Amino acid sequence: MILLDGKKTASEIRSELKEEISKLVEQGKKVPGLVAILVGENPASEIYVKSKAKDCEEIGMKSKVERLAGNISEEHLLDLVKKYNNDENFHGILVQLPLPKHINEEKIIEAISPKKDVDGFHPISMGNLVIGKDTFVSCTPAGIQELLIRYKIETRGKHVVVLGRSNIVGKPIANIMLQKKDGANSIVTICHSAAKDISIYTKQADILIAAIGSPNFVKADMVKEGVVVVDVGINRIEDKNSSRGYKIVGDVDFDEVAPKSSYITPVPGGVGLMTRAMLLKNTFKAYKMYCE
Ligand code: GUN
Repeated sequence: MILLDGKKTASEIRSELKEEISKLVEQGKKVPGLVAILVGENPASEIYVKSKAKDCEEIGMKSKVERLAGNISEEHLLDLVKKYNNDENFHGILVQLPLPKHINEEKIIEAISPKKDVDGFHPISMGNLVIGKDTFVSCTPAGIQELLIRYKIETRGKHVVVLGRSNIVGKPIANIMLQKKDGANSIVTICHSAAKDISIYTKQADILIAAIGSPNFVKADMVKEGVVVVDVGINRIEDKNSSRGYKIVGDVDFDEVAPKSSYITPVPGGVGLMTRAMLLKNTFKAYKMYCE
């Protein structure tokens, strides 16, 4: 069993980007920039946004966090997004989700210029992905494919089984792996909560991607010997032995499933860190498109 090390791989990606950015800046080019917009006071979102800013700083990218009160109007937020659509110093715009209930998330996502849609959530980006056009792909699925490629895992003709049909992970990763391209070209099945016996599908997986948000859901008797396992879950469960009182586990029961796997991502230390790295990569892509 080989660990798919998201920490090491994400660090390699940051080093590569840092080098490319420093070369461009030496040539007198603008510094790439990412703006993150955070509405209200959600502790988890605050942590995400801070870590994104730290990543940007590490690789020489400009980053700005716009903090807005939880009671601002939808119009106010739309105006801010439009302002950054026209700001040449910021090549990527990220509106941290979830937004407060009185703001229509879809409307805000659709207001972001597709040229700056580094989250890949805009319907134009999603549509381009489905028809196989080069586009921004949301960071978690992009990070999963990057891990598979960097570990030279064969995907062509392999059966990829995706657990979960979210717009952020399940649907985009299924579409990525379906593409007639290197690092994809797989046979893809998407499973979801309406499956009567999900193990019928999981047992057939050459590559199993779990993104359902259910702690330790995938057990050893649900997978075949030699499976490649990508665990997207980040779930908190009670842990009396920890001073925090909880621990983070994935959607896969790692202790049970790892011995049967050829490759597996740990949680934490797997996909989560790749998501952060891919946000930087997408921002750099937006910047290069701007420079052209
Ligand atoms: N909230 C949790 N994860 C994400 C993400 O990847 N992007 C945005 N915009 N919000 C999030």
